[in-house]
Amino acid sequence: MTNDMSQILTTKFAAAPVVPLIEADDPTVAVQTARALQAGGLDVIEVVLRTDAALECMEAIIAETDDIVVGAGTILTVDDAQKAVSRGAQFIVCPGLVDAVVNFCLEKGLPVFPGTMTPGEVQQAHCLGLDTVKFFPAKLAGGVPMLKALSSVFRNMRFMPTGGVSADNLGEFLALSSVVACGGSWLTPKEAIAAGDYHAITNLAREAVRLASAARL
Ligand code: 3PG
Repeated sequence: MTNDMSQILTTKFAAAPVVPLIEADDPTVAVQTARALQAGGLDVIEVVLRTDAALECMEAIIAETDDIVVGAGTILTVDDAQKAVSRGAQFIVCPGLVDAVVNFCLEKGLPVFPGTMTPGEVQQAHCLGLDTVKFFPAKLAGGVPMLKALSSVFRNMRFMPTGGVSADNLGEFLALSSVVACGGSWLTPKEAIAAGDYHAITNLAREAVRLASAARL
């Protein structure tokens, strides 16, 4: 990660290495969720493109909040990436590794975190010029032991484990020096959002920040 946004992410991850996912179909709810996360100390947010209104939700968070870095997740195609960038996405996250999507983001100077889970995929990402990738689905792909094995080979690669990460295993992942941050949806439970219980989301964010600080000691 070398450009300005990458620097900002590096600084924010040093303070709070956790990326909550927001899946929303209502921009007002998305903004309230983002504010609740920020109140708990998390200000790098990934809005996943899994609803028809996801781009609107992402745009609303960017327009109506301050000092939150907002990325687009579940980016599958160059077209998705193009749309997300045109609506203000500040970084891109993909479930898998697709050269065309990575190259598009690199040309735009946009941080991109493609999903990887095998040595071949991590090597391919390295050859494309990336120094940070998503490790997905982190728990099912072998969790901490697999990440240790990958990290021992790809000594300069940094990882963002996502998929099956929760308060129960966050500390174990963050204890690895190759992990820049962990992502996940455990911080934005659908039940809490449906009930309008934004305090619960702030509390989950606070707990994650506390666990992250303890893991990084
Ligand atoms: C992703 O989009 O990265 C994953 O679906 C997140 O996985 P989780 O829901 O287990 O956190």
